[in-house]
Amino acid sequence: MDLPQRVKLVEVGPRDGLQNEKQPVPASIKIELVHRLQAAGLTEIEVTSFVSPKWVPQMADNAEVMAGIHRQSGVRYSVLTPNLQGFEAAVKTRPDEIVVFGAASEAFSQKNINCSIAQSIERFRPVVQAALAQGLTVRGAISCAVGCPYEGEIAPERVALVARLMHDIGVQHVGVADTIGVGTPRKVQRALDAALTVYSIDEISGHFHDTYGMALANTLASLQMGVWQFDTSVAGLGGCPYAKGATGNVATEDVVYLLKGLGIETGIDLDKLVDAGKFISDFLDRKPNSRAAAALLNKRLG
Ligand code: HMG
Ligand code: MG
Repeated sequence: MDLPQRVKLVEVGPRDGLQNEKQPVPASIKIELVHRLQAAGLTEIEVTSFVSPKWVPQMADNAEVMAGIHRQSGVRYSVLTPNLQGFEAAVKTRPDEIVVFGAASEAFSQKNINCSIAQSIERFRPVVQAALAQGLTVRGAISCAVGCPYEGEIAPERVALVARLMHDIGVQHVGVADTIGVGTPRKVQRALDAALTVYSIDEISGHFHDTYGMALANTLASLQMGVWQFDTSVAGLGGCPYAKGATGNVATEDVVYLLKGLGIETGIDLDKLVDAGKFISDFLDRKPNSRAAAALLNKRLG
């Protein structure tokens, strides 16, 4: 196996995770979670999203959360911005990176951001231009890169098409997202290969939800292709309100355990990460959705 020597994890728990919780999570808890994640060594944190509070009320405290974070040097903070209105609100909170999020499925694009794929690109264009002009980096997410809750299986060509559209408007990096966690290794590899027809291996990442328990296998399959950047979520939080049935993202704890075992350094302190996952899981009154976290917490009990 020819695996990458280093891996970058983007922690998406505060955003992807907490956008999908039924019970309100106060800004103070979100801020504390970010503090614990950065203390554990996460250097890329997706904090929140600047979307409509009518659509996703869980993220309505976006500016408060961004303002409350004690920034740590060497850590980059990203936020989701679906349109210029979101970008203008976001930029006041000084993110390092913004994320525009489109889809390889027309139906999901409509349900999630209320416009077609083509319209979404037109909305992203001025956002990307403004972000780049201000020195921010721009990531794109391609949802439903393997399967869609409304359209079923998605052909890799659709991923290549959206990647091309994003590239043409200046998006610097794309995340290939298995939004509903239906992917298996070969299918995920084909979706990544499709993105690789447009972006280089250093410009793509994997974003795998774990609905069918395949996210770690898909992560390993991606590593085997040389992909070295992944979105992961502490305690396996995550989901999208517009993708019914989708469960959390691959747990950061599980991915860090996997990488440690493979001898790939991440700079992340697994014990502190498990503590961060326990902190937010305790608040949500459940156990961390991570096998590695469960094992390590059990071990602590002796
Ligand atoms: P829209 O209704 O088409 O927007 O929503 P509009 O421009 O027609 O405006 C309608 C109203 O929304 C107006 O307010 C605007 O001010 C307001 P009103 O006059 O009715 O009071 N509005 C906004 N307010 C705050 N921030 C904004 C904003 N834009 C408009 N940025 C919109 C379009 C995209 C805003 C809407 O569909 C939306 O917010 N969708 C939420 C999508 C979302 O957050 N989904 C979850 C994140 S994506 C995800 O989880 C997938 C990912 O993890 C990868 C994967 O797993 O696939 C990234
Ligand atoms: Mg997601």
